[in-house]
Amino acid sequence: MINVAILGYGTVGSGVFKIINENNSHISRRAGEEVRIKYVLDLRDFPGDPVENVLVHDVDVIIEDKEVDVVVEVMGGVEPAHTFVKRALESGKSVCTSNKELVAKHGAELLEIASNNNVNFFFEASVGGGIPIIRPLVECLTVDHIEEIQGIMNGTTNYILTKMEDEGADFDTVLKRAQEKGYAERNPEADIEGYDACRKIAILTSLAYERQVDFEDIYTEGITKITTDDFKYMKKIGASIKLLGMARKVDGTTYAMVSPFVIYQDNPLYNVKNVFNAILVKGDMLGDVMFYGKGAGSLPTASAVVSDVVDATKRGGASVKVYWKKEKRVLGSIDAFTTPYFVRIKGTGIEKDVLAKFGDVQYIEGDASQDETAFITPVMSGSEFEKAAEGFDIISRIRVCD
Ligand code: HSE
Repeated sequence: MINVAILGYGTVGSGVFKIINENNSHISRRAGEEVRIKYVLDLRDFPGDPVENVLVHDVDVIIEDKEVDVVVEVMGGVEPAHTFVKRALESGKSVCTSNKELVAKHGAELLEIASNNNVNFFFEASVGGGIPIIRPLVECLTVDHIEEIQGIMNGTTNYILTKMEDEGADFDTVLKRAQEKGYAERNPEADIEGYDACRKIAILTSLAYERQVDFEDIYTEGITKITTDDFKYMKKIGASIKLLGMARKVDGTTYAMVSPFVIYQDNPLYNVKNVFNAILVKGDMLGDVMFYGKGAGSLPTASAVVSDVVDATKRGGASVKVYWKKEKRVLGSIDAFTTPYFVRIKGTGIEKDVLAKFGDVQYIEGDASQDETAFITPVMSGSEFEKAAEGFDIISRIRVCD
């Protein structure tokens, strides 16, 4: 018998409760032992809900109970989750979490504590919700050097950009609709400013390149400056705009960022629409592999958490070796990151100046009534772009995924 304690009975916690109860015989068969929920921790009461039978308000009950084998942490936020998880691991319990803030900040430390206590710290649901991406990176793609990761890792922003593209609606209108449908939070800052995607690419970069990447060091640009006019130009060149979390290794330097990117149709991420997420990984031997699915929501996220519970049960007292050292990886500066840029500049008849500053650009025909010039630049670094843009009235500039 495997006893599970769930910390937090919110969106994901209630999904974990439902999945373990509804699919119990299947899950227990796959785990090799009967899996049951012994406790659910929450500050609140839930009168009339079946969770009442196992609800506790004091984490010590869980930590001190030697019968609890696996703790599921789905509270979110860094504290008190960090303290609770540390105590659980030190008490010899495996921990499975969906908490990206916790994993991005303390992943290396918690993996070390887990290993020292012969238990596991699993976090499949922390990136891409229900999409398997952590286990493939840690346990399947062990042969390849990872050259690059490109991911649509935030469903809210992907929904907003899809609607702007398909319906020609402006950012504020679509954001409001997303909030009404429950796809966007009342305070949407973490999604639209890219902070949520930033935690996720920090985790993937740390795993792919084996050292701690601090999310504070990752250049992060959200989608608030993208307009419907930008999408009109995209239609002309058969491209789209997506918010990407990106990690790339170039000549020994690791770059990581969150930024809107122009994506052409030949990139498989082009067709990832609405709230779906997808993560494209480029290995030096394997080539491209893409993981696609639902990156949020109660049951998809809980499905990934429970798959970690099954894995933790199967592993018994053996920790999975995860290569994520605490030593920090210094990232390359965004000023040195090279890419083409999509640019819109105020004014027409400026081709000579554009050629002199940006070089041989590819012009995109605009609406004749608009007093602007649009083009794609050659590949250039961030600092070269800033220098070239000096003196021009830039309406928008978006990196192009090459
Ligand atoms: N707000 C996130 C999203 C939820 O929109 O993808 C999952 O982290």
